[in-house]
Amino acid sequence: MGPKVEKTYALGFDVYGTLVDPLALADPLQALVGDQAIQFANLWRFKQLEYAFRRGLMRRYTDFDACTRQALVYTQRMLRCQLPESDQDRLLEAYLYLPMFPEVPAGLAALQAQGHQRIAFSNGVEASIRALLANVGLLPFVDDVVSVDDLRTFKPDPEVYAYLARRAGRPLAETWLVSSNAWDVIGAKAAGLRAVWVQRRSDVVFDPWDVEPDLVISRLDELPDYFAGQA
Ligand code: LAC
Repeated sequence: MGPKVEKTYALGFDVYGTLVDPLALADPLQALVGDQAIQFANLWRFKQLEYAFRRGLMRRYTDFDACTRQALVYTQRMLRCQLPESDQDRLLEAYLYLPMFPEVPAGLAALQAQGHQRIAFSNGVEASIRALLANVGLLPFVDDVVSVDDLRTFKPDPEVYAYLARRAGRPLAETWLVSSNAWDVIGAKAAGLRAVWVQRRSDVVFDPWDVEPDLVISRLDELPDYFAGQA
């Protein structure tokens, strides 16, 4: 763990896909839907995001937990596999116990040692994010949890990125988003923040929108090295 760095920032960490892995639900899904597990997990996540985007755009807000629930219903209908109520409840409960990516605590601890503010910043409801981070042991590694729910809209609405900076007490240019979601990175850049894309798998591609991340890493523990190198 290196020493403090000259310049410190507010770092907003996306939660789902960046700190914890929603696609890990393919494991419990295996017992429920067999061969369809990976397709199920992917479609559920994809629809959950689409529902949040559409609700933000339509200004018909329901919180992210509701988007997750409705996306689960859609996924069962689409894949023609109706699960008993009890299994659906268990899957939604599993959303509060999603496994973290293994290098996350060390990465966040090193960033803390460098003096950076570390904030979980999510489309998720604050109570759910706090419960999830507490359950996986990550809550002590962040200074705060900022949820879009306070504004009743969703990323990538520019308002929510400005809200992150405001909550951090920092100018936009000293506020970074760290996310594995390309749409989130582009949203943050469009709102005037700096942004790191965490490319967690080599086969995912960035959206060709002529907006580039300030930094691309494949694991969170590469971020302290970057800031140390900047000094
Ligand atoms: C988050 C999801 C949408 O904001 O990735 O945590």
